[in-house]
Amino acid sequence: MKIILSFVVVLLCIGTLKAENGYELWLRKHPAKAVNVTTSKQSAVLDMAKKELTEGWQGKAGSTIKLIVKADKDIKGDGFKINEGVIQANNELGILYGAFELLRRVQTGETTDNVVSNPSYQRRVLNQWDNLNGSMEHGFGGNSLFWHKGKDSLTVTDAERNRWRDYARANASIGINGSVIDNVNASPMVLSTPYLGKVKEIAASMRPYGVRIYLAVNFASPIKVGGLKTADPLDPGVIKWWQDKAKEIYALIPDFGGFLVKANSEGQPGPQDYKRTHVDGANMMADALKPYGGIVMWRAFVYSTTDADRAKQAYQEFVPLDGKFRDNVIIQVKNGPVDFQPREPFSPLFGAMKKTSVMPEFQITQEYLGHAIHLVFLSSMWEECLKSDTYQEGEGSTVGKVTDGSIYPQKYTAIAGVANVGLDSSWCGHPFAAANWYAFGRLAWNNTLTSDQIAKEWLVQTFSPRETNETLLTATTAWNSGFLLPVKKMMLQSREAAVNYMMPLGLHHMFSAYEHYGPGPWYAPPRVRVDWTPPYYHKADAKGLGFDRTKTGSDAISQYKEPLQSVFADVNKTPEIYLLWFHHLPWDYKMKSGRSLWEELCYKYQDGLTTVRDFQKIWDNAKPYVDSQRFADVQTRLMRQTRDAQIWKDGVLQYFQTFNNLPFPPDMERPMTTLKYIEATPPLNIK
Ligand code: GCU
Repeated sequence: MKIILSFVVVLLCIGTLKAENGYELWLRKHPAKAVNVTTSKQSAVLDMAKKELTEGWQGKAGSTIKLIVKADKDIKGDGFKINEGVIQANNELGILYGAFELLRRVQTGETTDNVVSNPSYQRRVLNQWDNLNGSMEHGFGGNSLFWHKGKDSLTVTDAERNRWRDYARANASIGINGSVIDNVNASPMVLSTPYLGKVKEIAASMRPYGVRIYLAVNFASPIKVGGLKTADPLDPGVIKWWQDKAKEIYALIPDFGGFLVKANSEGQPGPQDYKRTHVDGANMMADALKPYGGIVMWRAFVYSTTDADRAKQAYQEFVPLDGKFRDNVIIQVKNGPVDFQPREPFSPLFGAMKKTSVMPEFQITQEYLGHAIHLVFLSSMWEECLKSDTYQEGEGSTVGKVTDGSIYPQKYTAIAGVANVGLDSSWCGHPFAAANWYAFGRLAWNNTLTSDQIAKEWLVQTFSPRETNETLLTATTAWNSGFLLPVKKMMLQSREAAVNYMMPLGLHHMFSAYEHYGPGPWYAPPRVRVDWTPPYYHKADAKGLGFDRTKTGSDAISQYKEPLQSVFADVNKTPEIYLLWFHHLPWDYKMKSGRSLWEELCYKYQDGLTTVRDFQKIWDNAKPYVDSQRFADVQTRLMRQTRDAQIWKDGVLQYFQTFNNLPFPPDMERPMTTLKYIEATPPLNIK
């Protein structure tokens, strides 16, 4: 009876939920309880921690919280301790992080005593792929927060400063302490003096929240901005140009983080243009930044002509260079060996470079995972990667451990997330896309967190009823079972669902060419490099499907350490989630389920589609707990996601039938759209 009553009360109260546009993210204001916050000294950062606690306190009214900056052997870097109303940290930023953590713990009902929390990585950095003309590469969250076109493109307004501060605050609340504010496909102009003036303004707005600015730089900048004839990293004029540029930057921004470089990849200039190596290029920049404490994040996302298998190239190019980089160079490696696909095995570079700092790069923006249309919680994908065992230093050498300093003595540890944060009122486009920004920050802070925990935290903070009167508190059982549990389950299933309706069983890169949204397994025009075309990856033919990366094929498996190499070499031992990544198999290959490969594939696509249809129901049932604006927004996007999951299933399976001529399993739902129509219509135009 009590539960029914509380359910009714909750429905009555939330019937009047005010529309929300998502701008407040996971930091929504609730009526605060009285709290007395004392600090050991006064400073801008401590004042901010105090303000956050005073304005957001949901704990016992009349509590006292002491903020103490004092070194402690258990506290590392920006970490902190929380115990009996005291937040202690080595530095002020640690106190701010501790304040956000305490507020989160109170809100999510977790313990607030005996908490020691240290960051897994020193540098926790967003990579904004923002172009100086205001557009964003695969942004989906509106135009750039930082750049725009026009005569006034370098004038800074108060509105912009406020937005940058809000961005920095959101980042600080989850421990993110850096942002690369321009695209990896970098315009040289960002290093010109007028642009650096704006970078200085942006840095000033973010500094109070401990978010440092980094810049993605174009390797040819000495030519394009400096007017030199060459960008050869061993040329004395070029070396001096970068040294002078570093000096200019640090005079404007003393805490500037460093450079991010995409070199000799997808048409970007690099040291190889001058017959030099990545080491020559990276070390030259590292030397220029070293006097100021700056770092170089040098990307391993490169294309080389030495091997036919795209998945092998980064490893081949970088492993021989191990030990030759300066200690302020970090090699930034995408989670998988190809390119942010819905599922890839981890990149074999992790753990293989033993004398060089290596950092993971995840993609928060959903370039290959449904843009801002599909609800896909990416935490599950990153958790899978971070917990993958590389075996490089024996069992337990997970990707997390080989990059966070627990196994190799890296001078700098770091992690990057390619962000989708833009001018959209909800920041990221899809209301649930913010969960991916949140998850990245939380995993960067603690790379052993579970996606279950992260989803719960995000949902509670993003959707819990604002009112905190006694009646509503008694109603949280209803909120838990009516909203939290089903919606969390949906989030946790969402990545696997996307894998299933897009490219299950280890298939990859079957996207339509340009926007990387819908299916395009048939895309293979002449004159496009083959490793940009899906048939290169799926290798469907009359006999079977999949990329043979064993010894009889490209031998990419040899880049993995034993016992993994033997696992991937043996079709019976390879986990089925990676089956067609490593093996080319006949259509009638017998799967563990007893079905043929073809049947299994059909059921996987069906499964993905059915799961998303269920998401629509779950969300409709959650309606009483969500304000009308966010509810309708998600509902509309789910409808489109379901329709497009159907397009994926219809497109890919009918295309494979052109090779194998096999029928669909008898009980499977039939296609709703012809292959001819799907092939002829750009996925984002399908009506
Ligand atoms: C992908 C993506 C590009 C991006 C590149 C990168 O290929 O489609 O837009 O520039 O990755 O990571 O550099």
